[in-house]
Amino acid sequence: MSAILPPSERLWWKQPIDKVEWAWIAIAFVWGMVMFVMMIYWHIYGKQNLSNEAYKTTPEMFAAKAEKFIAENTIRTETEQQIPVVKVPANGEGYLIARLWAWYPILELEKGKTYKIHLSSMDYNHGFSLQPVNINIQVIPGYEHVVKMTPTKEGTYAIVCNEYCGIGHHSMLGRIYVK
Ligand code: CUA
Repeated sequence: MSAILPPSERLWWKQPIDKVEWAWIAIAFVWGMVMFVMMIYWHIYGKQNLSNEAYKTTPEMFAAKAEKFIAENTIRTETEQQIPVVKVPANGEGYLIARLWAWYPILELEKGKTYKIHLSSMDYNHGFSLQPVNINIQVIPGYEHVVKMTPTKEGTYAIVCNEYCGIGHHSMLGRIYVK
């Protein structure tokens, strides 16, 4: 019997399991168990597996909440496109919209404070990738992701879309300031 030819014994599933097959089944099972335990371990002790919450929403509902947040907390605008820079209230909630092909608005956070950042997409699947700290979250239309963040270092952080979303994907960049 080979992988290419049909099995010589047609009822191959009635053949006894070979020692080598048992060995591979055992290896695969043990490895699966190791990964299962590691998944739980990294969820608790890992630094990148976020325990974020997600809720069902619609682009309209999320945009309304984000617009209200932007209207109440904008401190200035930046770049030629007049993108609002919004100061998230200390230990409060912030909203970030993903859409073709921008992250909106620019958020400003304070070092050492804990924030709940709400993320959602207005159109397609985007990927929130915070650099250089390398935090990655899928941003999916219809879902509101709530991520807890406590910045530990001042600086300008880049948000890069890491989920291919069309012709402007490479230009889908955003910014978070930590003061
Ligand atoms: Cu948004 Cu790629």
